Amino acid sequence: MSKLLYSQVTPKADFLNRRQIMAGAAGLGLAPMFAGSANAKALSFKKSGYKVDGDITPKDAATTYNNYYEYGTAKDDPAKYASVLKTDPWSVEISGMVNNPGKYALEDILKDVDLEERIYRFRCVEAWSMIVPWVGFQLSDLIKKADPTGSAKYVAFETLNRPDEMPGIGWNPRFPWPYVEGLRLDEAMHPLTFVATGMYGEELPNQNGAPLRLVVPWKYGFKSIKSIVKITLTDKEPPTTWNKIADNEYGFYSNVNPDVDHPRWSQGSERPIGGGLFASRIPTLKYNGYEKDVAGLYAGMDLTKYF
Ligand code: MTE
Repeated sequence: MSKLLYSQVTPKADFLNRRQIMAGAAGLGLAPMFAGSANAKALSFKKSGYKVDGDITPKDAATTYNNYYEYGTAKDDPAKYASVLKTDPWSVEISGMVNNPGKYALEDILKDVDLEERIYRFRCVEAWSMIVPWVGFQLSDLIKKADPTGSAKYVAFETLNRPDEMPGIGWNPRFPWPYVEGLRLDEAMHPLTFVATGMYGEELPNQNGAPLRLVVPWKYGFKSIKSIVKITLTDKEPPTTWNKIADNEYGFYSNVNPDVDHPRWSQGSERPIGGGLFASRIPTLKYNGYEKDVAGLYAGMDLTKYF
């Protein structure tokens, strides 16, 4: 995706601007510190039955090879720059077709949920993949709290839009900020749909979407929106960032499907991250391996169309 963005969306001037800003920051002694998780807080959580075949991706790989365009488009940008994000205090505004709208403080959300660990496959539309031990809770727990009305059919999500703490917003001003995503309500209520507040037993590092991000394991990774501040229940299919940028390449559903190629590359196989440069590709599984759990959500739909 980053290639598309530079060649087709990012004007050259913005790119230069970004380099200048980075050079300036280094000159001022503001070179960003590596946002590692050396001081990350350990979480207490229950283990769960959600496991997959295959080795867990090394933590160093999952926390240094990221997509988080609010911190730049290179894979190592988020780990370098996301430490400036202030994640406390944090609240999520839930509105639209709900009986209990409001600003939910993160600590109140967390009071009412049991954190659990889930080991999920994660497949990016760019054809790389990871196996990540997330810590969090089912999205359905939060949505039930807001109590959708009978008219709600979709859930829209929005990422924080705070340019002061998100330098990538300034580096790429034409990108349609804030990052937005959406799910059908039944997808959002599905037991696999997860809100992660941690990974590898610790609080989520900023580059992975702290303090809370979505994880929808049967869909391409761009559906898993980071650092969520807004959730809106609606009766209309909500716009999604990558669909706005290239609607011929990124659909609303974006279920992992090895039988439907991206217009510019095959989706038949994937490169596991953390296995080294020469690690062999592995076949991509339909619905990323979650077919028996979720195929029923799409009964009767033309899956060659809903990429
Ligand atoms: N959320 C926001 N706000 N901004 C982003 O750029 N990138 C998406 C998704 N969520 C993105 C985002 C994409 S393309 C992917 S593949 C995953 O985050 C990457 O998650 P990871 O860095 O934790 O592996």
